[in-house]
Amino acid sequence: MLLVLAASIPGRGMAAATDRPWLDPALSPDARAALALKAMTEKQKLSLVYDYFGSEKPDASYQPPRGARMGSAGYVPGIADLGIPPQWVTDAGLGVATQRESADAYRERTALPSALAAAATWNPQLARRGAAMIGAEAHASGFNVLLGPGVDLVREPRGGRDFEYAGEDPLLAGTIAGAEIRGIQSQHVIAVLKHFALNDQETGRNILSADIDHGQARESDLLAFELAIEQGQPGSVMCAYNRLGGVYACENPWLLGHVLKGDWGYAGYVMSDWGATHSTVRAALAGLDQESGWIFDPKPYFGAPLRQAIAAGRMPLPRLDDMARRILRSMFAVGLVADPAGDTAAPIDLAGDARVAEAEETQGIVLLKNARGILPLARTTKRLLVIGGHADRGVISGGGSSTVFPAGGNAVPGLGPRHFPGPIVYLPSAPLAALMGQSPLTRVRYLSGDDVAAAARQARWADRVIVFATQWAAESQDVSLTLPDDQDALIAAVAAANPHTVVVLETGGPVLMPWLGKVAGVLEAWYPGSGGGPAIAQVLFGTVDPSGRLPVTFPRSLAQLPQPQLPGASVPDGKPFDVDYRAGAAVGYKWYEKQGLEPLFPFGYGLSYTQFRYRHLAARMERGRLIVSFEVRNIGSRVGAAVPQVYVGPKAGGWEAPRRLVGWAKVSLAPHGAAALSITVDPRLLAMFDEGSQTWRTMPGTYEIWLGQSSADTMVSTEVHLPAWSHAARWASASRSGAAWLPRYYRVVAAGGRASKRSG
Ligand code: BGC
Repeated sequence: MLLVLAASIPGRGMAAATDRPWLDPALSPDARAALALKAMTEKQKLSLVYDYFGSEKPDASYQPPRGARMGSAGYVPGIADLGIPPQWVTDAGLGVATQRESADAYRERTALPSALAAAATWNPQLARRGAAMIGAEAHASGFNVLLGPGVDLVREPRGGRDFEYAGEDPLLAGTIAGAEIRGIQSQHVIAVLKHFALNDQETGRNILSADIDHGQARESDLLAFELAIEQGQPGSVMCAYNRLGGVYACENPWLLGHVLKGDWGYAGYVMSDWGATHSTVRAALAGLDQESGWIFDPKPYFGAPLRQAIAAGRMPLPRLDDMARRILRSMFAVGLVADPAGDTAAPIDLAGDARVAEAEETQGIVLLKNARGILPLARTTKRLLVIGGHADRGVISGGGSSTVFPAGGNAVPGLGPRHFPGPIVYLPSAPLAALMGQSPLTRVRYLSGDDVAAAARQARWADRVIVFATQWAAESQDVSLTLPDDQDALIAAVAAANPHTVVVLETGGPVLMPWLGKVAGVLEAWYPGSGGGPAIAQVLFGTVDPSGRLPVTFPRSLAQLPQPQLPGASVPDGKPFDVDYRAGAAVGYKWYEKQGLEPLFPFGYGLSYTQFRYRHLAARMERGRLIVSFEVRNIGSRVGAAVPQVYVGPKAGGWEAPRRLVGWAKVSLAPHGAAALSITVDPRLLAMFDEGSQTWRTMPGTYEIWLGQSSADTMVSTEVHLPAWSHAARWASASRSGAAWLPRYYRVVAAGGRASKRSG
């Protein structure tokens, strides 16, 4: 360890540069990786491609190597002689997690709101800031590889990990994930984009085959990854558990070789999910660069078997060089070699970090219903009854490998499975206390909601009632869209007793709302994170305008889903099955529009406490790119944030769905303030992927452009003629210079009247 640190100290590093030229920061990551590789023995190269599980097994059947950091997911020993530090690997995309088994290794850390909440902000700058916060906590805990973010599209609203993903639209999801990658890596911590690809449900995740037309995959799930990679340049991509077209993702040459490293020109390394490696030479030749978490796979495929395969000539040495080079390149590019996260107990500002999480949640909360202007709550409210959701103690979080052990400990211990993916963790950020803080003169009572009759009785006492409803979702299992524990009955009974009832949902994703017509208000708060209590209270009392918009469609019933019956639900454990993604690229709102279905709440939807007017929509072609411009004005009397969304579709049809999201803005406006904005459309969003010629192709013709407040809003529209456009699959990676390139698909304007500030 000392040797590693010595290499990182400026001055000494310079001295080392003559005999260890790869430590020279003036050289490019590629040049440094090539130089380091030249100095390495085969054994050293092999050591880089093999990651150990970083924690002990509860039954003591496995002990990680000594350098591993307890509670972690992975450990790759460093090469001290060459100044290459170890890789200390931890979960995950919402904060620094602790492997459940390592109870004594818990360190208190900050949880962001769920990734769906981050996507619901429609604010990549905020997502980046949150991710930089968790990257810094990872670094301060001695980790330099963080296993997130995830960007599998939410195809299946019952998916147990939807809360770890960024929604159903490739542009929104890819852009949010890209921003998160930039945030994490700004702390010299490698971000790992996962789970590549189509790991869109948990039921049968280790065995199912996701079957989808390749071209349609490129326009949907794969496009989300492609955009996130372009925008974020993650050091690593994690291949998924599932199979695609019958071939495991971690040994799938089309996915890893052809698409990721070929067409997209991805220069980083591919690591497997924990237990997702199934072979040695086959996986290595397909494009897997590092086997993760040894002990989870049935064999140490990239350990001794890889060495033996090389010795026997079954595995070409240049491929091992390529694997090691990619890993080294990412370590240099992200800054791990100069700054390896040596200290496991550097200070963490938990209070400050909770405020970062809170800021993300305040913009991620979505106001779904606000009848008779029940919200914001008036501070003159005399009697407020708060019911359920353990709102007196905290906010719920999701389970599995992303679970963060929070500052102050689990607010409601003893719930859920004792072992993985449990327990259920409540973050001690109580909405009840925060509500009282918002309105000190209001008399506030709290009931658990266990006794429905008592809750209904008390509801008659109150001027306003807020019911908190929770749903726990976790890795390795899917969820029902019906709220658990009869919470629907509780809400219905309370709303029947008092029509001034507002429901706050803390759910992993969409749920059904049989009581919707009876309640006055509904807020979707997702998993609210370490600052959840204050964020919810601020939105309820109108200290901030609700500016979250749905990153996912809420169905009216299961019958509306492409797969009303969850695929594999009735297949015996361990038996392979296929999931036929017959909706193809028509994911989420695209499916609903194509089928003429009216969902409960459409993608992009969310109310504000003020009102906006959209106009001056115009579209033009400029240097081969479609530019859409418009004006948004706050026509109400409160400060508020609008999220104008631009959708495009060909008049003649022919796409997977009538229209696609092609850009948006998030703009905070003072009363009567206006902003003139423009966005540039990525040509791939105007094209279809043609498998035969391996090109993106835009058909010439008239296209309609809509500007609206959701995917279902078609109030303002215009038309534009698009010329034919055709580009090779590798067009994007070839046409821009890596990290220097940033998109203009969105605008974030912080505040103001006539804003013209550009950002992105
Ligand atoms: C999950 C990954 C996680 C890994 C390491 C797997 O079970 O699918 O998302 O990063 O474990 O804990």
